[in-house]
Amino acid sequence: MQSRMLAFIDVAANLTDPMFQGIYNQVERHVPDLSTVLDRAREAGVFRILITAGSVEMAREAVELISESPSLFSTVGIHPTRCDVFGDAQSVSNMKQIQNLVDIASSAKGKVVAVGECGLDYDRTTFCDKGRQQIGFEYHFLLAEQLKLPILFHNRNTGGDFVKIVQKHRDRFENGVVHSFTGNKDELKQLLDLNLYVGINGCSLKTEENLSVVQKVPLERLVLETDCPYCEIRKTHAGYHWIQSHWKTVSHKKYETGSCVKGRTEPCHIRQVAEIVSKLHEVSIEQVAKQAFHNTMKIFFPEESANGIYDSLFETIRNHS
Ligand SMILES: *[C@@H]1O[C@H](CO)[C@@H](O)[C@H](O)[C@H]1NC(C)=O
Ligand SMILES: *[C@@H]1O[C@H](CO)[C@@H](O)[C@H](O)[C@H]1NC(C)=O
Ligand SMILES: [Zn+2]
Repeated sequence: MQSRMLAFIDVAANLTDPMFQGIYNQVERHVPDLSTVLDRAREAGVFRILITAGSVEMAREAVELISESPSLFSTVGIHPTRCDVFGDAQSVSNMKQIQNLVDIASSAKGKVVAVGECGLDYDRTTFCDKGRQQIGFEYHFLLAEQLKLPILFHNRNTGGDFVKIVQKHRDRFENGVVHSFTGNKDELKQLLDLNLYVGINGCSLKTEENLSVVQKVPLERLVLETDCPYCEIRKTHAGYHWIQSHWKTVSHKKYETGSCVKGRTEPCHIRQVAEIVSKLHEVSIEQVAKQAFHNTMKIFFPEESANGIYDSLFETIRNHS
């Protein structure tokens, strides 16, 4: 199906989600098919995947999963919506959360490549209010310092609070990606001024205004992701008509082996994100893929030489398929 050889790294995939075990809203709809999903990803050119962990338990699960495959990596962090595990600002028990994450990361050296997802989400404050989210968020800079890792940020509708906090701690980490970016042009400028990278997925490509912002993200600062199983690019999305890669897709009720499931995004769909970005930037999809790949290697795999690795990869992929 894919004639052109492209390589991708998905920097945000929630592969521990029950949907990859065939479970939707607590109802079992089909057999677990994570291994098929990973095969499909590899065929689409997805070379590596970062599993986003959002709690201590999820980080443990993720670390177990990544030990099974050389192409899987993980983050460790506590998602803003899970920050209720943190106490008041000075609570000594907060350090315990961080220590747990340090221990998990240390048990999987070289495979835990980022701190995250961490940040603020003011669209979802029912589980954890703004104040508690801010307390939890600030501890992640200490975690990044201790682990000497880049940060995968989550930021949703937070006014200036996110930028203010990152600014305050900017000298404590080297590289960071604000994933699933849906902000406006001013917010984009603030992130670029902080020397951060911007993660683009289907949620970033929903409205015409979204598209005009993505057009302004310099390719040297752009990173591709899916945020699967969320952020499907629906027919109603502004960028949908530019998609060239399609997979056979059925509803979970009519699941068949070898098909994608409607409403469940997978790492292979990163190609669709790249296709839309290539149209918006008026450059070839090869150029988008190569630049995003280069950026991603630099951020999350700084010890591997990024030069030449993109091209040499295709031999590896050919030999394995
Ligand atoms: C991943 O999926 C699980 C299960 O649906 C969910 O509880 C968790 O919040 C998700 N993690 C992230 C980082 O979105
Ligand atoms: C982009 O789309 C998201 C939905 O994915 C929306 O919440 C957001 O406001 C949009 N941003 C802009 C700048 O239009
Ligand atoms: Zn997120």
